[in-house]
Amino acid sequence: MKSKLIGILVTAALFVGSGSALAVESISGQSVPEKSADPEKRKVEVVQGGIERSYKEQPPMIPHEIEKYQITVQNNGCLKCHSEMTYQTEKAPRVGDSHYLDRDGKKLENISSRRWFCTQCHVPQLSGAPLVKNEFQGRK
Ligand code: HEC
Ligand code: HEC
Repeated sequence: MKSKLIGILVTAALFVGSGSALAVESISGQSVPEKSADPEKRKVEVVQGGIERSYKEQPPMIPHEIEKYQITVQNNGCLKCHSEMTYQTEKAPRVGDSHYLDRDGKKLENISSRRWFCTQCHVPQLSGAPLVKNEFQGRK
């Protein structure tokens, strides 16, 4: 029993020892630094008056931070400002009329469940140069 335990301990010690000596190697055989550099920190763009749309039907991009607003099944932080009841006092744009339609085009009392998870379609923007050149031409 005792020798078995020692055996296990020795094996464990060998594993720990060899683990730290393992060099990271890429498929092409070059060595890879163990920890890559942290990505550059970027800020969410805050754009007064909103971000111009590239085409008419585009879900407008979010011109402010959203970190503090949560969307769960019961609660939608975005509607504190963007709902029919609150948009005037919060001086925020009201959600589009389309957000009250069900899939058959019938108008609903409340926001359609299809439009509940706002960030499925609306996203904030980070400042930074584009990674690849974009030549998209929107129609107005
Ligand atoms: C505290 C109030 C508040 C909350 C909460 C809030 N917003 Fe806003 N939002 C605003 C205001 C005010 C504007 C208008 C900013 C401007 O035009 O300068 C705006 C603008 C927008 C726009 C741009 C609309 C357009 O026509 O250009 C979108 C999209 C948007 N918000 C989505 C969201 C989403 C999604 C959430 C939740 C994750 C959210 N907002 C939470 C106040 C809020
Ligand atoms: C399935 C995609 C989708 C979802 C989900 C969605 N939207 Fe939109 N939203 C759009 C599109 C597309 C437009 C532009 C056309 C329109 O007004 O319907 C828009 C427009 C808007 C506008 C501008 C309205 C105007 O008249 O200029 C606001 C504000 C907005 N959405 C907020 C929200 C909020 C808040 C939520 C979550 C409760 C949400 N949206 C969920 C697609 C979506």
